Amino acid sequence: MLERMVDFFESRLSGYDEHMLKNIEGAEEFYKYTAEQLPMKSDGKIFDLGCGTGLELEGYFKLNPTAHITGRDLSKAMLNALEMKFKGKNLKLINGSYFEVPFENKIYDAAVSVESLHHFTRTEKIELYKKLFSALKSI
Ligand SMILES: C[S@@+](CC[C@H](N)C(=O)[O-])C[C@H]1O[C@@H](n2cnc3c(N)ncnc32)[C@H](O)[C@@H]1O
Repeated sequence: MLERMVDFFESRLSGYDEHMLKNIEGAEEFYKYTAEQLPMKSDGKIFDLGCGTGLELEGYFKLNPTAHITGRDLSKAMLNALEMKFKGKNLKLINGSYFEVPFENKIYDAAVSVESLHHFTRTEKIELYKKLFSALKSI
């Protein structure tokens, strides 16, 4: 299933951003709103699960240009597109599934995931959320 998902997104990479922004109702407002919910501290560390080409990061980097982003995505091609878009930003991009590896302990100020987790079952997501909770700093 994950291999099919990589093929699906990579075959649509050209024109992906325009498609998302023009054809998904309310997308522009939604990405802007998402960016506004993330921490504004200058060295903030954000974990983006299924970051793709980083549409959710465009608004965020405008608000917090020095944020540190760790992005994990199944598709290397999507990550390459993200890297090209945000040259010079603090990026750590990891190619792979967020289900398949442990996350580092208590290192992120926040996590974000847009249009990615709906592909999976509740049971799969509960395990992921437990892992994610451990990866977030205590308040
Ligand atoms: C619809 S795109 C959303 C990308 C971006 N967050 C956005 O809103 O434009 C879904 C992304 O989730 C990634 N993805 C799906 N399942 C994943 C998994 N298990 N681990 C990592 N990335 C995954 C896909 O490769 C794809 O880039």
